[in-house]
Amino acid sequence: MKVLIVGSGGREHAIAVSAAKSPDVEKLYCAPGNAGIGRIAECVPIGAMEFEKLAAFAKEQAVDFTIIGMDDPLVGGIVDVFEAAGLKVFGPRKNAAILEGSKAFSKDLMKKYNIPTAAYETFDDPVDALAYLETAKLPVVLKADGLALGKGVLICNTLEEAKEGVKSIMEDKKFGAAGNRMVVEEFMTGREVSVLSFTDGKTIRIMSSAQDHKRAKDGDQGLNTGGMGTFSPSPFYTKEVDAFCQKYIYQATVDAMAAEGRQYVGVIFFGLMLTEDGPKVLEYNARFGDPEAQVVLPRMKNDMVEVMRACVEGRLDEIQLAFEDNAAVCVVLASDGYPVAYEKGYPIEGLERFEKTEDYYCFHAGTALKDGKIVTNGGRVLGVTAKGADLKDARRKAYEAADWVQFENKYMRHDIGKAIDDV
Ligand code: AMP
Ligand code: GLY
Repeated sequence: MKVLIVGSGGREHAIAVSAAKSPDVEKLYCAPGNAGIGRIAECVPIGAMEFEKLAAFAKEQAVDFTIIGMDDPLVGGIVDVFEAAGLKVFGPRKNAAILEGSKAFSKDLMKKYNIPTAAYETFDDPVDALAYLETAKLPVVLKADGLALGKGVLICNTLEEAKEGVKSIMEDKKFGAAGNRMVVEEFMTGREVSVLSFTDGKTIRIMSSAQDHKRAKDGDQGLNTGGMGTFSPSPFYTKEVDAFCQKYIYQATVDAMAAEGRQYVGVIFFGLMLTEDGPKVLEYNARFGDPEAQVVLPRMKNDMVEVMRACVEGRLDEIQLAFEDNAAVCVVLASDGYPVAYEKGYPIEGLERFEKTEDYYCFHAGTALKDGKIVTNGGRVLGVTAKGADLKDARRKAYEAADWVQFENKYMRHDIGKAIDDV
């Protein structure tokens, strides 16, 4: 089988590594890919938003199956373009990817179908939003409706901050058109857990849980980032939590989408907050998490491509997922200054060791090839994952391996997975 992966980050590298393990896959392409993905797949210089070109490429090369890794093309309707061209593709159609593409849509869906989430109001007009905030309980959470690279969420502790927030989202359009609408949400407290799942639109199968560290600095200080590291499983995701979510959240979401005529096929990422009143949905994403995929997929025993094909063919009920009885930790190696300003183009040393060492992975996020050498090419450069007997063992190994790699301005957090010491 020929498989094409669309995307270019650490998540897509993790997807590529899993796809390459499938006995059915003879040829792997990735568009546009990166220097690390290029070691196991043929990288194709077509952008993830060039839907027609990508579909034409898949036709020409007789690609049997395409996997969309990123949110932007999914929300933009890449799956519809591929299907119209008669191609098999894994991911939600545009009318279902709206689950991630519009926070107002997802909040209204949860309200309508009684799926637990924070109380909220939606606004199209900043004047109404400001009037509402005068009486809202603090802290309060403001969310731009559309996609904003995970940055369109503001937690405001004072009324002043909230007013500033409305101005930056709805008037100054700091997140562009994503801020034409805004959701104002109740602030929740508790542990956050990421749960990824596969669904064919009827059946849903949950993967092992994970937890992300979103802030740039140790101790959850500093700015929000795409994610500085992850661990899996989350010790806070207990059997009781799972039972609750199976009953009130997972199947309910799939059924709600189907009832709305928006049958959802692909990965649903449930961002959960474990509050005192039970688990609640913080957000949905229409794809694997990045860097959650980097700790969840290496632990999956199933043939990932086979599971994805079962989703597309509507026979996920035939499949049970299985995960290794171990743990994984991923430490992101970033360029110092991320997520604000950082330099690129520095050579990376020490990558060879990963290719020879089992249970250690170095997923490329922002890398490029320059004169035959792999160089830094982004804020998040690499994700170093290690598997271990338990979370502590995996954490020790991941930090050991993080030191194998050297590049100028290398930056990482030193407390990834440290929350597990509290358990
Ligand atoms: P989102 O993109 O919706 O997941 O929001 C990004 C981050 O903001 C989440 O991972 C939480 O840490 C935080 N957040 C979002 N909504 C809330 C909320 N209602 N209460 C507390 N924190 C929140
Ligand atoms: N790591 C969070 C996300 O992928 O949205």
